[in-house]
Amino acid sequence: MKLFIDSADLKEIKDCVEMGVVDGCTTNPSLLAKVGRKIETVIPEICEIVDGPVSAEVVAIDAEGILKEGRVLAKLHKNVVVKVPLIAEGLKAVKVFTKEGIKTNVTLCFSANQALLAAKAGATYISPFIGRIDDTSHEGMKLIEDIVAIYENFGFETQVLTASVRSPLHVVQAALLGSHCATIPASILKLLLKHPLTDSGLEKFLEDTKKNAEKAK
Ligand code: G3P
Repeated sequence: MKLFIDSADLKEIKDCVEMGVVDGCTTNPSLLAKVGRKIETVIPEICEIVDGPVSAEVVAIDAEGILKEGRVLAKLHKNVVVKVPLIAEGLKAVKVFTKEGIKTNVTLCFSANQALLAAKAGATYISPFIGRIDDTSHEGMKLIEDIVAIYENFGFETQVLTASVRSPLHVVQAALLGSHCATIPASILKLLLKHPLTDSGLEKFLEDTKKNAEKAK
């Protein structure tokens, strides 16, 4: 399973990359606004830190505009994946990007039928937003289960990129369901590592090593 960092904050990204578990990065206009950076300057900097796909999102909502913006973004670095909203104009653009060899991440997916259409258009990745579905009192993870099953039924090559991850439980559930990737905020990525028994076990080992150093010959 590939783990991506969902952030546009260079310090945060670097910190996670140093853990040695980051396969890529995803950004969106809200994450860019959070750090107050322009897409064309921050994406190349992220690509220097992350050795893997880096999603950069278009803000145009007509096919022609999406294509124009996406081609510029794709030229920023060989690892750029153009993130496109799941609307009819977006799918038209994805079809063209696919023919041109530009990788795409189709975002704002909230239904299995939307994911089916994105795969048919040739999307490289589909991003179902799990946390936002949970926010509506529906089970976001059911969507991952459905999309994985549909893609498997027909051999679609589109990779399921579980997004809007809000807890470590989302990550383990996505992994069990066979989601190819998950994009995770830095705070959640760090939580994946934590277990109180690891901390207390390590503390005891260090304590015993110290005691032994005093008495062992
Ligand atoms: O990758 C999409 C993700 O950033 C959305 O997350 O927490 O804003 O729903 P959230």
